[in-house]
Amino acid sequence: MRKKKPLQTVGIWNVKTMVESGVMMLLIIGALVTIVFYYVDIDHEEQKASRPVVYDTSVYDSLEGCDLFSGKWVHDNDSYPLYKDLDCPYIYGDFACGQYGRMDSKYQQWRWQPHACNLPRFDAKEVLERLRGKRVIFIGDSVTRNQWVSMVCMLQTVIPLGRKKMEKVRHVSLFTFKAFDYDVSIDFYWAPLLVESNGDHPSKHRTNERIVRIKSIEKHAKNWINADVLVFNSYLWWRMPILKILNGSFEDPKQYNIVDNHNGYKMVLKTWSDWLHTNINHTRTHSYFMSMTATHHKGVEWGKKGNQNCFNETEPITKDGFWESGSDLKMLMMLESSLNNLKTKGVNVQMINITQLTQNRKDAHPSIHRLHYSPLSDEQRSKPSSYADCTHWCLPGVPDIWNELLLAHVLRKHK
Ligand SMILES: *[C@@H]1O[C@H](CO)[C@@H](O)[C@H](O)[C@H]1NC(C)=O
Ligand SMILES: *[C@@H]1O[C@H](CO)[C@@H](O)[C@H](O)[C@H]1NC(C)=O
Ligand SMILES: *[C@@H]1O[C@H](CO)[C@@H](O)[C@H](O)[C@H]1NC(C)=O
Ligand SMILES: *[C@@H]1O[C@H](CO)[C@@H](O)[C@H](O)[C@H]1NC(C)=O
Ligand SMILES: *[C@@H]1O[C@H](CO)[C@@H](O)[C@H](O)[C@H]1NC(C)=O
Repeated sequence: MRKKKPLQTVGIWNVKTMVESGVMMLLIIGALVTIVFYYVDIDHEEQKASRPVVYDTSVYDSLEGCDLFSGKWVHDNDSYPLYKDLDCPYIYGDFACGQYGRMDSKYQQWRWQPHACNLPRFDAKEVLERLRGKRVIFIGDSVTRNQWVSMVCMLQTVIPLGRKKMEKVRHVSLFTFKAFDYDVSIDFYWAPLLVESNGDHPSKHRTNERIVRIKSIEKHAKNWINADVLVFNSYLWWRMPILKILNGSFEDPKQYNIVDNHNGYKMVLKTWSDWLHTNINHTRTHSYFMSMTATHHKGVEWGKKGNQNCFNETEPITKDGFWESGSDLKMLMMLESSLNNLKTKGVNVQMINITQLTQNRKDAHPSIHRLHYSPLSDEQRSKPSSYADCTHWCLPGVPDIWNELLLAHVLRKHK
């Protein structure tokens, strides 16, 4: 008993010393790491200066006049996937299928083959070089985020550690990826309904009732002005049957109208078009709109029985012109008509028409292989298809192709 006390004291003293020396060690290691990075950076700069990169700039120009969206999926495990999921630290819980137990990988190995021409082989360095000095912003919902993460993954593998940075901008729904050596910024702005709504928080937006201020876009849109490329996408959140349209502010939510989703979509496209027309310098900023993407909730549409969906699917649908019933053609036509209307005013917004090409890819959704935000019930466990995500897309995968199609248009314009 007597010997215990001094021992304890010694023990505490030891811990204290250990903490202190540990802090010192960390400081020393930190300093060393900083020095090492400093030299790595200098080394990198010198290499760049002595070996200028020259790329063939004609590849993208030669696509002029080719309808890139009409084509077919071809299995090509030589060229795809464009990156490995474990090599991209930014793949988010909803898209990280491999990390959440998806074992098959054929879904990553499909090339989009336009009927009338060939897409250039993707080269991250060339793309970064041609985007030099540019800021690209993806604006929209979780499908947009899916595409943004894909773009970052496609580009980031060729950028050394310390020469890139990913961050959330404070007090704004803006996430930004920067490639320092190219002065390139690839951003994502969360605005699932484009205008102000009760879904504006990037992560806390679950509710049974969607409330929208249909004419109020400025609060979000003021963050989009100084970009070179704007990529819009707003479809998924307009799929709920009705929306509450607020006349006043969220502080005084007494005056509202209930509208159906089609009327709401028409109204928001009007707000968006008017804003784009009057606020954007279209010589500097080129705008794109991603068309709606397919979901695969109804297995009966491709010959499955009962209530099956994309769960356990590993092959694309082969039928030409397949169309799943969740894709709302009427909304696509509203978008088209808005874009045509803008065109008559001299504003050219290119639609990246990925609707048809996503129809066949029932094999490419996360299904059950993703982060689950709440624990699964026993009932769910016994019937995995009941909680399958057939809306988003695994990475690497189909969104990589959307980005190749987007880049084919962007890089032709920004010479
Ligand atoms: C989108 O592309 C498909 C395939 O080429 C075509 O059938 C469809 O008409 C296009 N839709 C629009 C709105 O351009
Ligand atoms: C690529 O696919 C072909 C069939 O299309 C297959 O024979 C080959 O083993 C595959 N290669 C790899 C590396 O997976
Ligand atoms: C909305 O508010 C405006 C004035 O701010 C008013 O003129 C209009 O009647 C209101 N509409 C509805 C449906 O309450
Ligand atoms: C629009 O952008 C172009 C290209 O950056 C620039 O030359 C022009 O001055 C801008 N126009 C206005 C009105 O700011
Ligand atoms: C998944 O599909 C394979 C055949 O494609 C089948 O053998 C297997 O039973 C299916 N698994 C489940 C859990 O349905």
